[in-house]
Amino acid sequence: MSRIVYLNGEYLPETEAKVSIFDRGFVMADAVYEVTSILDGKLIDFPGHMARLQRSLGELGIRNPLADAEYLAAHRRLIEENGITDGMIYLQISRGNGGDRDFVFPPEDTPPTVVMFGWNKPGIADNPQAQTGIRVITLPDIRWHRRDIKTVQLLFSSMAKMQAKAAGKDDAWLVEDGFVTEGSSNNAYIVKNGAIITRALSNDILHGITRAAVLRFADEAQMTVEERNFTVDEAKAADEAFITSASAFVMPVVEIDGATLGDGRPGPVARRLREIYLDESRKAAI
Ligand code: PDD
Repeated sequence: MSRIVYLNGEYLPETEAKVSIFDRGFVMADAVYEVTSILDGKLIDFPGHMARLQRSLGELGIRNPLADAEYLAAHRRLIEENGITDGMIYLQISRGNGGDRDFVFPPEDTPPTVVMFGWNKPGIADNPQAQTGIRVITLPDIRWHRRDIKTVQLLFSSMAKMQAKAAGKDDAWLVEDGFVTEGSSNNAYIVKNGAIITRALSNDILHGITRAAVLRFADEAQMTVEERNFTVDEAKAADEAFITSASAFVMPVVEIDGATLGDGRPGPVARRLREIYLDESRKAAI
């Protein structure tokens, strides 16, 4: 069965969904995106993703062509039509077809291109990696300085991931001026003496929707949270570490640049936060 995708108001088999080669998303990476996870056929943290989408579009001056209720209806229809129980929906909005390739933005009335598609990822909440934890390497963060905007310029993130794989590890943490910014496609945390430490929000990192939820749950559970920079050495000496993202939820990290954290198994804070996050998110899913 061919997957049904959304393109500019239409629901089409994936082979029939065509976007112009002049689209600025294609030639300029002039586009933003969101990835929302689905558990039991319902959307996780959807309002947060909509709020960040609006912010990303606003920062780039791309008109938001749809209302949140329309995005929600489209997400639900894709879940329904594609029979997604556990999985993801990807949403991308580009500045549209500017005609000739030009560094100057096209006229403001150029319609943005809106694409949505989903996929099944059975058992995402029971990912076996959560039992063993992941191993990361560190790399210099050479991305641009507006990482708070969720653009489709993901080449370095992709290269960082490939470098981690080539080193036989799972992912990369990115480092700037000696401090960890975030993971290649996730936010990064360490735990020391019970305190959860993660970089504060700024233009240096993506404002993770999972991060916001996890920090709220940590606070509610009376855990100590310190939003501050941390170094690679501090991370290697931490009791435990973890990452968060819409696709990984809370994923323990057990090794950084070859240094094993604690006893090399997922730590209690990461395990507990994963459990709370999954429980609470399922309850709030829409
Ligand atoms: N990545 N930092 C970066 C650089 C990211 O790409 C992501 C998400 C996050 C976590 O954000 P959130 O909790 O809102 O998913 C942090 C998504 C999942 C992706 O690109 O597939």
